[in-house]
Amino acid sequence: MKDLDHQHIVLGLCGSIACYKSAELCRLLVQAGATVQVVMTQAATQFITPMTMQALSQRPVLCSQWDVHTADPLAHIHLSREADVCLIAPCSANFIAKLAHGQADDLLSLLCLARPISAVPLLLAPAMNPDMWHHPATQRNLATVAADGATVLGVGCGDMACGQTGDGRMLEPAQLLDEVIACLQPKVLAGKRVLITAGPTFEAIDPVRGITNLSSGKMGFAIARAAREAGAMVTLVAGPVSLNTPHGVQRVDVLSACEMLQAVSTHIDHADVLIATAAVADWRPVTVASHKIKKDTAVPMQSLVLTENPDILATVAQSPRALRRELYCVGFAAESQDLLAQTQAKRERKGVPLMVGNIGPATFGQDNNTLLVVDDVGHREFSNAPKLSLARRLIAEIACRMGG
Ligand code: CTP
Repeated sequence: MKDLDHQHIVLGLCGSIACYKSAELCRLLVQAGATVQVVMTQAATQFITPMTMQALSQRPVLCSQWDVHTADPLAHIHLSREADVCLIAPCSANFIAKLAHGQADDLLSLLCLARPISAVPLLLAPAMNPDMWHHPATQRNLATVAADGATVLGVGCGDMACGQTGDGRMLEPAQLLDEVIACLQPKVLAGKRVLITAGPTFEAIDPVRGITNLSSGKMGFAIARAAREAGAMVTLVAGPVSLNTPHGVQRVDVLSACEMLQAVSTHIDHADVLIATAAVADWRPVTVASHKIKKDTAVPMQSLVLTENPDILATVAQSPRALRRELYCVGFAAESQDLLAQTQAKRERKGVPLMVGNIGPATFGQDNNTLLVVDDVGHREFSNAPKLSLARRLIAEIACRMGG
């Protein structure tokens, strides 16, 4: 099962140099299982040929409402009605202005105006020069189209084709694919704030060494993405991992357990849910050597004195808001044996309503996982699946328990 199986996407292109990215975007949408109907403005055809988009979408590309060869004489009405999502990428400043005023003088603006607003999401991926982006007229028009029900996906910051550096780059094709997938997910956590810990922690011994573990952070990052897809505002406190931040997620990087506790404490007051997936190191050295410990001098490793780290999840679970259930706490038990018994015992010990058990050595660094979801009445297994699929199931489960 692919993320966009059975989904029909209208991909609209306006005139912008960013059209070169739309070829890759079209490929990604098709690879994800979608059927893609490309519609181009005349200006877009100056930047990329309809033939290129036709070859990639495997469907005739539509460029005009006056084309007598088109099978459907009412294409401007039917195109958006048949779509699950309309995505305009790139969306030029001029096209945003047209949308804001309800103008409909070409096929793409016609189909946007004729789209059933409540049934078919309209996603806009703006692309323009920084001065055009920041111009009050553009910002005013963006506010108008957003108020009219369009989703403005924001822009990247960086070098522009015009030589300027700043805001206005179209988001990358992979980010846009994620946005399309996200907009089709049920919004079971709409308006909720979710705080997630992920990855290992690193407890320094000296400037070059430390205590850590094999957690990759993949499960926590997948949960962050799934929570954001479900409509939540997500803050991800990440230990040292080499993973890309899911689009739209606020990330706070930390190294040690104490730093992770500090970051969690900073953000917890506004959170509705804490999902603690981090594999927090249980101990840290009492003192950190300021220079590298040499093997023939100084402190031998045998005399390394450790102290226990704070338990972040247990601390938060005992806070007044968590005890009143205004903050829903979820833990992840990483075990190597006796999964059910260990997870049940850990749930009790940490005082959380939900503890998710998994076998650490089998899942650290992997793309798949198997989860055991344990609460006060029983347990349920989520069988082996990609971490993102499991994350979406878990988010649905959490939303359900929160009354969503
Ligand atoms: N946890 C935490 N702070 C710690 C230790 C663990 O917040 N100092 C959280 C983890 O993020 C996870 C849960 O507690 O959600 C269980 O973590 P785990 O490493 O499985 O258990 P430990 O409490 O460390 O116990 P043990 O090492 O004995 O299994």
